[in-house]
Amino acid sequence: MSSTSTSTRNLSHIIPLDFNSVDTLPDSHTWDSSPDHHLFTEFVPIIDLHDPNAATLIRLASEQWGVFQVTNHGVPMNLVQEAEVQARGLFELPRDQKLRALRSPESFSGYGSAGNAANFSKLMWSEGFTIMGSPVEHAAQLWPDDQSVQTHFCDVMEEYQKKMKGLSGKLIRLMLGSLGLDKEDVKWLNRPKRSSTNFPQVLQLNYYPVCPDPTRAMGLAPHTDTSVFTVLNQCDISGLQVFQEGIGWMSVQPIPGALVVNVGDLMHILSNGRFKTTIHRAVVNELHHRISIAYFYGPPYDVKISPLMKLIGQDHPPLYRPVTWKEYLGIKGTHFNRALELIRNDTGYASFIYE
Ligand code: OGA
Ligand code: NI
Repeated sequence: MSSTSTSTRNLSHIIPLDFNSVDTLPDSHTWDSSPDHHLFTEFVPIIDLHDPNAATLIRLASEQWGVFQVTNHGVPMNLVQEAEVQARGLFELPRDQKLRALRSPESFSGYGSAGNAANFSKLMWSEGFTIMGSPVEHAAQLWPDDQSVQTHFCDVMEEYQKKMKGLSGKLIRLMLGSLGLDKEDVKWLNRPKRSSTNFPQVLQLNYYPVCPDPTRAMGLAPHTDTSVFTVLNQCDISGLQVFQEGIGWMSVQPIPGALVVNVGDLMHILSNGRFKTTIHRAVVNELHHRISIAYFYGPPYDVKISPLMKLIGQDHPPLYRPVTWKEYLGIKGTHFNRALELIRNDTGYASFIYE
């Protein structure tokens, strides 16, 4: 395949549809297996981080559900709301302006369709903007004539990342504590955190425009996150659904002031399979535009992640071979929902495909 056709094909998965230009769902966005709107009403656990039993509750939720909501998380509500306002402002920009900050096929950051779009034959009803580290360069492309808007956007996003990092530190300590471990058992947690390349900060802004036929469209197709865990602010419009074995798809209701935490693939690996990585998706609706902001918490890119030593033993052999986040993102990009299976020690695939 020539490089031109490769890049054209890739771009069709990167440039979102001009959603304002259509009033019916195009075939390219009509899913055969459309979201089942007949949902179960069980609630994912809501955990107050001031509760003395928070660690145990987090362990139970992570083992059983792989997802929970947290309250009393210490992230100021006005910052959460301002991040939402800034995200909305970005997505409401004219299309041409947003396309100036289009992410390139080789990179993760910038404006575009969902990162996993190439893994599906149908396209999704959403737009995204990924911030890795500093958003300064992209902000200059988005608002070239307005320095104060650029600065305010960057200040809010950087402050939001900082608060998410603090909350994530709290959550990882609670998760490890709940498994009888502490931060000494995870060397990379003790690394100096000054450099952002050392500790990547990844923020994903998602926008789900009003959809003319939500029952046949998909906001974000089912996936698991590659992160250790993800902290999601789904603002005040529901749309996040999680898949539970034996139950089906469940809606995670937005609770004012709460944040959703979902276990990612790397935590599943670290916990040697004890914590569940959650299959989730986002559905759309015909009344409201929906914004969500996801913070992907992960280790430094160059650190090998493997089941933690204290969790393995004769009866608990390590289920996964060591991988770095960077390497795992590559595996996920190519093999998508088979990525975990491919690094499992007992499938026999791992050694010959990736070593
Ligand atoms: C994600 C994600 C869910 C949502 O960004 O990975 O799963 O509700 N988002 O937007
Ligand atoms: Ni996700």
